[in-house]
Amino acid sequence: MGGRHSKSYRVVAEEGSISDVGIIRRTGSGPDLTTQQQQQQQQPSQSSEEDSTMISTVLCQVDDLKDGQMKDFTVEGKKVLLVKDEGQFHAIGAKCTHYGANLATGAYSNGRVRCPWHGACFSVTTGDIEDFPGLDSLPKFQTKIEGNSVVLLATKEELEVVKRTKPMCSMADDCHEAPVIIVGGGAAALTCAESLRQHSYQGNIIMMTQESSAPYDRIKLSKAPDTPVDKILLRTADFYEKHKIQILTNSQVTSVSVVDKAVTLADQDTVHYSKLVIATGGTPRTLTCPGADLQGIHYLRTPQDGLSISESVQGRDVVIIGSSFIGMELAASLVAKVKSITCVDALTEPFQMVLGEPIGRAMRKVLARDVAQTERC
Ligand SMILES: Cc1cc2nc3c(=O)[nH]c(=O)nc-3n(C[C@H](O)[C@H](O)[C@H](O)COP(=O)(O)OP(=O)(O)OC[C@H]3O[C@@H](n4cnc5c(N)ncnc54)[C@H](O)[C@@H]3O)c2cc1C
Ligand code: FES
Repeated sequence: MGGRHSKSYRVVAEEGSISDVGIIRRTGSGPDLTTQQQQQQQQPSQSSEEDSTMISTVLCQVDDLKDGQMKDFTVEGKKVLLVKDEGQFHAIGAKCTHYGANLATGAYSNGRVRCPWHGACFSVTTGDIEDFPGLDSLPKFQTKIEGNSVVLLATKEELEVVKRTKPMCSMADDCHEAPVIIVGGGAAALTCAESLRQHSYQGNIIMMTQESSAPYDRIKLSKAPDTPVDKILLRTADFYEKHKIQILTNSQVTSVSVVDKAVTLADQDTVHYSKLVIATGGTPRTLTCPGADLQGIHYLRTPQDGLSISESVQGRDVVIIGSSFIGMELAASLVAKVKSITCVDALTEPFQMVLGEPIGRAMRKVLARDVAQTERC
């Protein structure tokens, strides 16, 4: 690590604040957590005998659901999602672990439920998260068939659990190997670090990001661009400390030597690695036309971009270039505060690139109807 130990880096100290605390230090490894222990951590601390008594609840009859159909049920005041596939029933938590969307209104295919809001994906056989966004898994409940009835078996305690973090190992005390370095500080980098711990990797893990904050939920920026970064952090400082995942912020990697197994940072520091992961994400395509360098042109990628867009659009005529998800979500989030919004696209219909022309045309009609209704109000 050479000179990096002597330097101070900006890392997240606790949820809701950012401070200079230097590299996250090892404090020794605690016992590995089992799934049950983790679930217990996310449950209310007081539990009674009544809470841990198994309750059998008839949800429906076997033929009430068709194969591939999902339905949510309320059991002891909590929502449970029941899915039927190839004659088998699976019961999992009904609310997405990302921002709590009702999964029953999402899509089911091939053993997975996809969230209707931003597309997170969960296995119905395990409840495990299988696709971004969101990092945590759903609780999974037991079911059985009694006669013609589908029965849920769960304790009150189990029904209280809304999300579950997959079990992770700790870092070994006697780890002398060079770290795994992950370049990037987005969801992919974080998921990689967590997956290493989930798959029993006990060595040192260092994430290096050129941004000034720990990983945050980038997708929120088009839905609520004025959200401060401390409200959308993906994990708390405690989480990184507990799982011994170091994050170096303001650390842009400028070159990699695979011969020396080392990365060089913008300030010329060199750090050696045992394995290197590059998770540097994407960047917006910038304008190249005349006028592209004029004032008042913004790109949306970071919380700072979101804030400066929010601050500058008040009462103005706004043009958004691009009419797919990010452009249209941004239009929806700004519409209340601007004088007008015009979305411009090289294609004929909004969302055409991802959803095709017929759906894009239908979306345009829905948007026109909504605008007409807004104007009438
Ligand atoms: C406004 C917006 C809204 C979105 N909404 C959705 C949505 O609703 N649903 C959805 O599924 N997806 C959405 N996306 C896409 C989603 O955010 C990306 O798919 C996701 O962020 C990709 O994660 P990543 O970790 O691969 O990359 P990124 O999030 O791009 O993270 C890469 C990180 O690496 C850092 N980095 C790059 N180069 C270096 C370097 N040399 N040294 C150090 N650090 C470096 C970057 O600064 C960045 O922090 C949205 C994207 C945007 C911009
Ligand atoms: S609420 Fe489900 S993906 Fe965001």
